[in-house]
Amino acid sequence: MTTRSNPIKAVHPARHPTPALQLRVGVLLTACVWFLTTQTAWAASAEKGKEAYVKNGCWQCHGFVGQGGSAGLRLAPNPKPLAYISAFVRNSSGPMPPYTQKILSDNDLADIHAYLESLPPAPEPKTIPALN
Ligand code: HEC
Repeated sequence: MTTRSNPIKAVHPARHPTPALQLRVGVLLTACVWFLTTQTAWAASAEKGKEAYVKNGCWQCHGFVGQGGSAGLRLAPNPKPLAYISAFVRNSSGPMPPYTQKILSDNDLADIHAYLESLPPAPEPKTIPALN
């Protein structure tokens, strides 16, 4: 008597995912979660940046729209690149206090840069009636 193999099993062998497949699915899911969480954090927001700019007191020396004043330099419009601003804010040893990551996160700083970038150029003096 011969033993006949199950024809269905022959066509569809093991239905259970192999450990290698489980690992690959796990890595893929982790990558998706990582991507989604970091992508939202990366998208610098001018709106959040305005909040961080006000909350951290940048306005006290640089003015509410980064226009500068007696206490701080002009920061906007046309702000310097984020890398420059970041290096300055973290390492200032002059009249401006340095801000560590504990006080001001990299995300907040990127948002502040986005806020400064969002500010429109100043109007031409000849378009301001009080000056003419
Ligand atoms: C106590 C006043 C004060 C506060 C608060 C302050 N700054 Fe400043 N900031 C200054 C002064 C003064 C300078 C010029 C310092 C120097 O040349 O060493 C400066 C310079 C800078 C520069 C370099 C500008 C350039 O063109 O070289 C950047 C960028 C800057 N500040 C960003 C910020 C940000 C962002 C904040 C808030 C997180 C902030 N500052 C808060 C006073 C301040």
